[in-house]
This record gives sequence, structure tokens and C-alpha cells, in this order.
Amino acid sequence: MAMPQAVKVVEVGPRDGLQNEKDFVPTAVKIELVNRLSAAGFRNVESASFVSPKWVPQMADGADVMAGIERRPGTIYSVLTPNLRGFEGALAARADEIVIFGAASEAFSQRNINCSIAESIARFEPVAQAAREHGVRIRGSVSCALGCPYQGEVPVSSVIDVVERFAALGCDEIDIADTIGVGTPRRTREVFAAVTEVFPREQLSGHFHDTYGQALANIYAALLEGIEIFHASVAGLGGCPYAKGATGNVATEDVLYLLQGLGIETGIDLAQVVAIGDFISTSIDKPNNSRAGKALLAKARSEQGSCV
Ligand code: HMG
Ligand code: MG
Repeated sequence: MAMPQAVKVVEVGPRDGLQNEKDFVPTAVKIELVNRLSAAGFRNVESASFVSPKWVPQMADGADVMAGIERRPGTIYSVLTPNLRGFEGALAARADEIVIFGAASEAFSQRNINCSIAESIARFEPVAQAAREHGVRIRGSVSCALGCPYQGEVPVSSVIDVVERFAALGCDEIDIADTIGVGTPRRTREVFAAVTEVFPREQLSGHFHDTYGQALANIYAALLEGIEIFHASVAGLGGCPYAKGATGNVATEDVLYLLQGLGIETGIDLAQVVAIGDFISTSIDKPNNSRAGKALLAKARSEQGSCV
């Protein structure tokens, strides 16, 4: 299988990256983050969640974020919708894509959305139907596809089962998510090889958290399986509220540096993303977790320094 020549990098920092922040991130900062990301060339920015504010208080201002952003033509602004109420919010907010999210692990499904896998699919049915009726794109995210914090090992057959259910709901894209970052390249290849048998390869994405430092290796493994869409979070922000100890998504700057080195097109300006990583880390007073981001910032600063 040849590696893809071009890859779509979906920036999930404004949602997955920020959702776990304890201190409320001002709406204006979230808006600036989304605007700067779309200006840097991202074709898809996951911008907000329309979930219960009791469950995820940080995402309570999703409607305001969506109302405040500048829409760059051609960029898909996605939001998470766990139920019909969330979908109504997403529709009013003019989201281009909704994300329904289920797990390949029963235990995680209970902790994250308070219901079984089967119940979650039943709950997503009217959501998906409404999205189709309104011409809104649908993405399905399969959590714990490479392991679960509560049940441990997750069989490939459980991943396939959820992918098939999401496909039946009419998903335009399906994310294979390593929620707690335990996956390794061999398992990643196994899972993608199996999943591409039941859902089109070009509509599958890899969503890797970097808890065990395997995310870039897993992306490389998925590229070898011909996967063309990857999620990442600028400055490596984030973690999951229902997966204790899980760190953020793989840092976008690191993914872009890898892809650039492989000669794979993304249409995204790495230098701008590095500056955005600096902006958001400084704004929320958190360390920048991107290795490439920190290296490129240090290089730029030393070059500036040597000029004066
Ligand atoms: P529940 O408590 O079982 O259901 O929550 P409920 O219907 O009783 O709702 C509880 C309260 O929330 C009620 O308010 C509802 O009105 C309200 P109250 O009557 O108590 O005042 N409510 C809502 N409010 C705003 N928008 C809504 C909404 N729905 C209910 N849409 C529910 C069930 C699914 C709502 C809840 O569990 C929930 O919102 N969970 C969200 C969990 C979440 O956002 N997790 C993080 C995102 S997933 C993720 O990060 C994984 C991913 O990155 C991939 C990966 O890495 O694995 C995608
Ligand atoms: Mg995630």
C-alpha cells in the first residue's frame, strides 16, 4: 500500500484540547484560536461541543464560540453532539459537521456518555437522521479503539462492530480513536487493516492521544495502511475528562513536521501553527507540549536574537 500524497489534518485543539481545562478559557480566546487555525489553512477545525455543561463545563459556551468565529470558505467547522438537543444547538450554530461519539468499550461508554454502546447508537439514530435531512455532515468517533482505561484490551471485533453501526447511520467519516494513547504501531495497523475491510479507507481517520508517546509512530503505521485523515491538537493540548491520566492529542506541529518530512501535502502553514501553539499555551498558562513547536520557537528566537 502506497502512502498517501496528501493528508487532511483535522485540528481538534479548540474542542478536545480545551475541554479538560479546569479554569474557564474565555470565549474570546477560543474564538481567536479557531480563527487563527482556519487562517493557517486547516480544512476542518473541531470548534466546540454541544454537550451537557454539567458534564463538560469548559464547553458550555459553544454557541457563543460558533457565533463569534469568522467562517473561512472551504473550512468545515465541526461540533460534538451527544443527543438531539445537542444537534439542535449545532444546527442553530450553523455547524458544518456534527460528531457523534461512541466507544468500542462498554465500560467507557457508561463513563463518558452514561449509557451502553447499543443505547448510544439508538440515541444517535434520530441525531443522524436529522443531520441527513438538514444536509449536515456526520462524523462518528470510536473511542477506546486501541484500549480502554476501564476494561483494558479491546478486541478488533468490537471496533468493527461500532464502525459498522456508524456506517449504517450514514457517517461521512469515522475516527478510530486511541483515547488513552496506549496503542502501538502493530496494533494500529491491525485495526486499520480490519476496519478498511468494512468502511472506505479515504473516509477513515486516526485520532491519537499521546499518553505513551506512541502517537507519531501510530500515525506512520496508519499512513502505511493508506489512511489520509489525522486529528491533532495544537501545542498537544488536552486530555479526556473520562480517561484519567490520558494526555492530549498528538501535537499538530509534530504531525505537520512529520508529514512535511515525508513530502506529504497538507495545505497548512507550519510556521503559523507554531505561533498559534505559542499563543494558546501562553493564553491558558500551560506548557507547550509540541516538541517541534518548542524547537521551532527556540530557533526563531535565537535567530531574532542574533540579528540584534
Ligand atoms: P445524562 O446525565 O445521562 O442525561 O447525560 P440527561 O439527559 O439527564 O442530561 C443531564 C443534564 O444535561 C440535564 O440538565 C439536561 O438537560 C442537560 P438538568 O435537567 O440536570 O438541568 N443536557 C444538555 N445540556 C446541553 N446540551 C446538551 C444536553 N444534553 C443534556 N446536548 C449526556 C447524557 C450524553 C448528555 C452527557 O453524558 C454528556 O453530555 N456527555 C458528554 C461527554 C463529553 O463531552 N465527553 C468528552 C467528549 S468525547 C471525547 O473526548 C472522545 C473523542 O475525543 C475521541 C477519543 O479521544 O476517544 C471524541
Ligand atoms: Mg479525543
